[in-house]
Amino acid sequence: MAIASLKQQAAEFAVGMVQSGMVVGLGHGSTAIFAVRKIAALLRDGALAAIRGIPCSTAVAAEARALGIPLTTLGDVAAIDLTIDGADEVALDSFTVIKGGGGALLREKIVAQASRREVIVVDDSKLSPALGARHPVPAEVAAFGWGAQARFLGELGAAVTMRRDDRGAPFRSDQGSFILDCDFGPIADPAALAARLDARAGILEHGLFIGLVTDIVIADERGARLVSK
Ligand code: A5P
Repeated sequence: MAIASLKQQAAEFAVGMVQSGMVVGLGHGSTAIFAVRKIAALLRDGALAAIRGIPCSTAVAAEARALGIPLTTLGDVAAIDLTIDGADEVALDSFTVIKGGGGALLREKIVAQASRREVIVVDDSKLSPALGARHPVPAEVAAFGWGAQARFLGELGAAVTMRRDDRGAPFRSDQGSFILDCDFGPIADPAALAARLDARAGILEHGLFIGLVTDIVIADERGARLVSK
């Protein structure tokens, strides 16, 4: 089955967890966008009502608005009931993931930390025995002094690449900052690495999501299944 169909299955399965009246975090990426579209369709049909969305990126905000999903902000609500978002790599046994392949990691983590349930939707190619084995850890860094962060990340053992856009210019996040993709290989202690990154001025956020994920929906050839913490 095509990967896109698996992504759609996982995302639409997770939408089954959305109930009328909820505040819903709208994730960024090619998997999570299927959830945004399904929520919009259910709102149009009347199967869902009174949903308010909090988008994880300006791109998702634009798409949600165009589809007619009412949006709100973290200034206006105390918590998000449920967020549906994708991931680049999933360690199922520890409920830890790498995110940020789409460059929205800072907003995604802000939304995840404000969410009662953080539902990750993936096709089974994202499953991994150890975080870092399949995908680099993105680090969003302030443009000021970014070279110092690149050296610091290299000293921690990463092969560091500046993310670039289609024209070869440094990719800019929604905040206007840079993304350094950090290939650590399999990470023995993701929590310890996350603590080092959290403590560093100039690293605005990183893609290690630890202790945030409550549910994972995985789609494979047999269908979609939910694993809850
Ligand atoms: C966006 O910044 C990311 O965290 C995405 O959620 C992640 O890269 C997964 O993207 P896809 O669903 O497009 O694979």
